[in-house]
Amino acid sequence: MASQADIQTPLGATVVAAPVTTPFVTFDNFLPLDLAQAMRAAAEAHFQQPHAHKPDTHNVWNYWYVPGLYTYLRAVPERVLGREPVTAFYEGLRRWATQYLGLANVTWPMLSLYVDGCGQGIHNDSTNGRFGYVFSLTRNDRGSRGGETIVWKEGDPFRNSLDRANAGSGLYDLVPPVFNRLVLFDDRMPHGVQRIEGSMDPLDGRLVLHGHISEGDAVVNGPLTPQTVQSILAPALDRALDAFPDTEGLHHGPLTLRLEIGPDGRLAGCRILVNRVARSDGGSTAPLVEKIVDTIKAVRFPPGGQPTLVIFPILTGGVLPMIRQQMAQQAQPQDSGHLRF
Ligand SMILES: [Fe+2]
Repeated sequence: MASQADIQTPLGATVVAAPVTTPFVTFDNFLPLDLAQAMRAAAEAHFQQPHAHKPDTHNVWNYWYVPGLYTYLRAVPERVLGREPVTAFYEGLRRWATQYLGLANVTWPMLSLYVDGCGQGIHNDSTNGRFGYVFSLTRNDRGSRGGETIVWKEGDPFRNSLDRANAGSGLYDLVPPVFNRLVLFDDRMPHGVQRIEGSMDPLDGRLVLHGHISEGDAVVNGPLTPQTVQSILAPALDRALDAFPDTEGLHHGPLTLRLEIGPDGRLAGCRILVNRVARSDGGSTAPLVEKIVDTIKAVRFPPGGQPTLVIFPILTGGVLPMIRQQMAQQAQPQDSGHLRF
């Protein structure tokens, strides 16, 4: 699991070291503390003086109840926390996801509150994004239990434990909603929220901003144009995938790369930011990923005279259907099926 030491947070100072390869990752102290504290203070102020609450300021919560699956309260966050800090959070997250995950499409957050009895049953969000994000404004000294994000472990829980007892954390991970922690989890992983027990006071509840991150436009900074870069990368990717005629269709998930193209057109750097390629038959994805990376490392670009930085996602299994739909509505032609530029 990566830690906050591995990837720079919006105002952090640490250099990227580890790609995101695991079902979930956590980034503690994600926001500057004063911004996280300002949002928490706004939430606490919202719940103070209950007798003074007015419909326009306080009738903002949607009690979302889906029998057997979801029980919690949802709100448009700016109505509780104020537009300015929520915008700062969203913009910081979007810049960070673009730069360090190579995934530029971030949904506006929802604000959710879980008090005693609230929780989320196990589900996936395979068509809603590549990663779910959960940013916690929950008090660390809250008077309640539960509220952890549940993320199932990879693999087959039946066949992996045929001859041995297994339970709880042997089958899934529980990620506590630590204040100012960002959790990212692979949206295809079965996940949920552990039921809250112990308090109906909203100040003791699990309070989180959450949403989804998926592929957006590539970053291309420098003299080479996105069209030029894509015209070279798309056939290279096709060549790499052609080497796996029998198994290519079994692969699914994003591989995002950060390329530093030198002034002479040669690659000066190639780093994996995210590798969440999985195979539907459980087989190893390493041969295909290595082939893609090796093929791209051998590519030559036209000389630009200056360096060009390229950050882009390769989408094995194709672009998400909702993204394809958005692109069709915006008449964006620059999609080769596995690349977003
Ligand atoms: Fe979910």
